[in-house]
Amino acid sequence: MNYPELASRFAEYVGGYRSPDGSLSDAFLCKYQHTFDVVRFAGEISAREAFPVGDQLLGRVCALFHDIARFEQLKRFHTFSDKLSGFDHGYEATRILLERNFLADLTPAERICVLAAVEFHNKLAIPEGICGEYALKFAKLTRDADKLAILDLVCRYLKGEIKVEDDTLIALSRSEGTEVSQEILEAVLAGRACSYGMIRNQNDFLTCLFAWPQDLNYAASASLALSGNLYGTLRTFLPEDPVFTRILNLTKKRLKCRCSKSKI
Ligand SMILES: [Fe+2]
Repeated sequence: MNYPELASRFAEYVGGYRSPDGSLSDAFLCKYQHTFDVVRFAGEISAREAFPVGDQLLGRVCALFHDIARFEQLKRFHTFSDKLSGFDHGYEATRILLERNFLADLTPAERICVLAAVEFHNKLAIPEGICGEYALKFAKLTRDADKLAILDLVCRYLKGEIKVEDDTLIALSRSEGTEVSQEILEAVLAGRACSYGMIRNQNDFLTCLFAWPQDLNYAASASLALSGNLYGTLRTFLPEDPVFTRILNLTKKRLKCRCSKSKI
């Protein structure tokens, strides 16, 4: 498996979505950069979890391809919403990888890992019993790396360091009031996931992110979220209300708990 060669094939594929002047429009560029953020986090988590070197490389390949269908989705439907487009970008990515023979040089076992990681990265949960333990290792890694990359992106956006042109994060610009719904507060306090349908404003969206630690699989992922102070940063952009301090403390406790043991 040759990561640099696969990365250059990926770049060549994305090149097909460039404007005639060679530029990538903001939304495409946002996904392109997100891909490499996820690759970086997958590399960091897998190294800290002491994956064998070959598995660290395979983890980066999973991350490299996880959002490959986003470009076609945006071109055809002008949105990153799977719901609005009726386009499951996890499943569609597996089609692109197979149709374009991206995985030809991988062993059959490696191919299964990449396809499972890509297909299941955007599902609410990985379906039980659908892939073997080895493939599960990479599906869980990709999901963790994706979450950390998004949390990091939201923090950088809030600090004014970057502009976000990704309408899956559209809630950042929604402005139906500032009050966080009771439904979201209750879910996050209880450690339950929130659905996008619950979100009406930016504060709802930021609060929903506090439910993510429950879904992190690796101790190293929790440790990276803590050391990067990702949740501490998010908290500073939420209202003064002490309920958010309670949520932050609870979140830190959950992260510390995950730090002591991976869920694999
Ligand atoms: Fe995705």
